[in-house]
Formats: sequence, C-alpha cells, structure tokens
Amino acid sequence: MHGCPHVLCRCGYLRLGDMNTVYLNGEFLPEQEAKVSVFDRGFLFGDSVYEVIPFYQGVGFRMQEHIDRLNHSLRAVRIKNEQNWDAILQTLVDKNGGGNLSVYLQVTRGSAGKRSHVYDDSLQPTVFACCSQIKDIWQEGADEVLPLKAIVTEDLRWHRCDIKSTCLLPNILVLQQAKDEGVQEALFSRDEKLTEGSACNLFLVKRGVLYTPKRSSDILGGITRELILELADKHGVQFQEIDIDYERLLAADEVWVSSSTRGIVPVIEVDGQLIGDGQKGIVWRKMFELFTDFQHKLMTGQ
Ligand code: PDD
Repeated sequence: MHGCPHVLCRCGYLRLGDMNTVYLNGEFLPEQEAKVSVFDRGFLFGDSVYEVIPFYQGVGFRMQEHIDRLNHSLRAVRIKNEQNWDAILQTLVDKNGGGNLSVYLQVTRGSAGKRSHVYDDSLQPTVFACCSQIKDIWQEGADEVLPLKAIVTEDLRWHRCDIKSTCLLPNILVLQQAKDEGVQEALFSRDEKLTEGSACNLFLVKRGVLYTPKRSSDILGGITRELILELADKHGVQFQEIDIDYERLLAADEVWVSSSTRGIVPVIEVDGQLIGDGQKGIVWRKMFELFTDFQHKLMTGQ
C-alpha cells in the first residue's frame, strides 16, 4: 500500500487506508493479509466465476439480478456455494466507507492442494470480494462523458459467454489490441454477427429505433442492458433485439456500449469510420438522462 496520509497519492491512486478491507472466506481483512493458495483452481485454471456490482450511496444496485446471475454462473459451472451475499457484501461496503463503490466478487472452485484437472465435489470454494471507487456519472452529466472509438475483432471466446467466468484472456487481448491501435474499445464479431464489447453490451440506433443483439450464450446478459430495455419500453423508445452485422453497425446513427461500471457510453467511431455524424447521439442523450436519473433516485431514496 502507499502508506501516505492523503486521500489521493501523487501517483493518482486513491489511498486505500480505510478502503482496503477485503472479504475472503468468511473474514473481513486488510488487503495485505488476504492470502489464497497457489493451488487454488481459480489461479491455476481460471476455474471460477465473478460478479461486478455497483453500490450507490452504499446501496447495492439491482442486487437481486446480480445474485441471480451469479447463481446462474455457479450452477452452470457446477460450483456449489450458497451464501448470504447481501449480508456479506453490505458489510464489506460499510467497512469500506459506503458511498459509490463497485464490488468485485469471485467464487473459485477452491484448492485441492495439488494441480489436477479433475476435481472433487467436496472442495471448499474460495470466496473473495473487494471494492473500488466509481464515479457518480449523474453529477457529471452527458456533456462530460468521453465518447469511445472502437475496433471490431473476431470473437474467439468459448460458446458460454452467458457465464460470467474469470477466463478473460480473449477479452484482455482484444482490449490491448484496441489500445495498440489508439482506440478504447473492442467489439466482438462471431459468425458475421456482432456480439458484445470486451466487457460491455452493444446497442445501436437507426432512425430513432434502438437495436441490441438477442440474449443468447454468445453474450453476457448485462444488468445494465436489461435496465436500458426497460427504460426504453417505459419511455416510448422503440427497440428490437436482432442480429447485427458489420454493415448494419457501420450504417447506424448511433452506437453505444453498456456496463455496470461504465453506464452507457457512446461509440463515435468504429474501425476508423465515423458513426452517424461522429457526435454523441440524441437518443443516447435521452437514454443517458433516463438511466442516470433512475440510478440517482435509487441512490437518494426518492
Ligand atoms: N463486465 N458483457 C461482458 C463480456 C461483460 O464483461 C460485462 C460486464 C457486460 C455488461 O454487464 P453488466 O451491465 O451487468 O455490467 C457485458 C464487468 C463490468 C467486468 O467484467 O468488470
């Protein structure tokens, strides 16, 4: 840790001082004291699943949906682990000072004290959770949101992208490729259809109508994606879940990506070609406002 008494270190990192309590297997510990076996299957095989849950003003956002998705991932990879997630995560957030935090939760299959591909059902899963700060995008407003440029790359992931697995090597590599090419996001394409972004869902707008790929095992069922569709429905924005090919993507008036940590972010350029007029779109602005208003009301208990 930085060991400095300031809220912000000169290096730009938040001082973790009171922000570094993590949860590991039933205990709340300072980060430095949390240790996991080198034989943990999460470490050796990526044999684990995770969730990322935003807390606004100390309150979990769409907690039940996140827990349902975690249970879906756990069941799909046959890790048995039932916990009082609400209580664990709320205590962790409180111990880290509440406010606007993103909680990372990971459940691995555990450690058998050796490396072996086969596993025994009696293994005790490893449960780890930690927090990091998130920005309050409601206060910032649409004008402050930095639009993204993206590349499209082949989706080389497995066929169970609905499971929130920690095997993220393809996601990491495409994002790095994007960075090497001077842009900030990578969109996956599989069988000539766009699936999602490196860690986000994909939307486009054409003539005022919102389009997003259908839910399938090719994409993660994003909690933010669901909320966007609910808000669109409620506020009269027409939408359709459809296949999106490359031509349709480039011909869109607007492209956005969404995730719990970033909210809804406009993409103004794909593979060097401008989307629409290359500005943040009018439908994005409307949805951004609806989305951040919705969050803000929850945060402030209105
Ligand atoms: N990722 N698709 C992928 C591949 C993702 O990794 C994510 C989120 C999403 C959006 O899901 P949600 O709206 O529920 O955050 C879609 C998280 C934030 C992460 O990996 O850190």
